[in-house]
Amino acid sequence: MSYAYGQAGDTTLAFPDIEIARGGSCAVVGPSGSGKTTLMHLIAGLLTPATGSIQIAGERMDTSSQRERDRLRGRLIGIVLQQLRLVASLSALENLLLAQRLSGHPVNRASAAEQLAGLGLGHRLHHRPHALSQGEAQRVAIARALVGRPALLLADEPTSSLDDANTELVLQLLTEQAVEHGAALLVVTHDARIRGRLEQEIELAKVAP
Ligand SMILES: Nc1ncnc2c1ncn2[C@@H]1O[C@H](COP(=O)(O)OP(=O)(O)OP(=O)(O)O)[C@@H](O)[C@H]1O
Ligand SMILES: [Mg+2]
Repeated sequence: MSYAYGQAGDTTLAFPDIEIARGGSCAVVGPSGSGKTTLMHLIAGLLTPATGSIQIAGERMDTSSQRERDRLRGRLIGIVLQQLRLVASLSALENLLLAQRLSGHPVNRASAAEQLAGLGLGHRLHHRPHALSQGEAQRVAIARALVGRPALLLADEPTSSLDDANTELVLQLLTEQAVEHGAALLVVTHDARIRGRLEQEIELAKVAP
C-alpha cells in the first residue's frame, strides 16, 4: 500500500502488507516521519491510499464512500489516541456510555461498569479524567476503545508518556483485551520498550527527503 502527500507526490510513503488475525497483535515501529500516523489514518479510513487496499473484518475501507467509512469506523475500529481525548466534564463511566452511544451500540451501563472494573477501575467509575492518574486515564481510554466490540483495536503511541511499570501494564491490558474480545491489535509507536513484545513487528524506514 502507498500514500502520496501533495499534488506532485512530494512525499510518497510505501507500506508493507500487514495481516493480523482476531486476537493477534502487531507493532509498527519506525523513526519520526516514517509514516506511522499516516498508516493509522489510512487504516481508519481517514485517508485514501494511492495504491493497495485495506480490509477489516471483510469490509473494504479504501473503496467505501466517506459516509460508509464513518459507519464502518464506528462499528469495526476502536482507537486509542496518544492524546486520550477523554471528555473532561464526564466521569470515567460516562465517557464509556458516550462512546457506546457514538458507536451505534445500545447503551448498557452495567456492561460499561463491568468493563472498567475488569481493568482495575471499579473504584474510579465516577472520577473525572483530571482526578485520574495518567495510567488510570490510559486504561479508561482502552476500555472506551473496546465498548463497541471492535474487530480492530488501533493504538497510537499508547505508552510513550508512561513510566516502565505503567507501560508494562498497558501492554498486558492491550494484548489480553484483544484476545478476550477477539480483536486484532495494531500498535504504532517509536517506543523502544514495545520492541519484541507483540506477535508481529513491522519496521517502517525513514523516507528520503
Ligand atoms: N498533511 C501533510 N502534508 C504533507 N506531508 C505530510 C503531511 N502529514 C505528514 N506528512 C509527511 O509524511 C511523512 C510521514 O508523516 P507521519 O506523521 O505519518 O510520520 P510518523 O511516523 O507518525 O512520525 P512521528 O513519529 O513524528 O509522529 C513525514 O515526512 C511528514 O512530513
Ligand atoms: Mg506520528
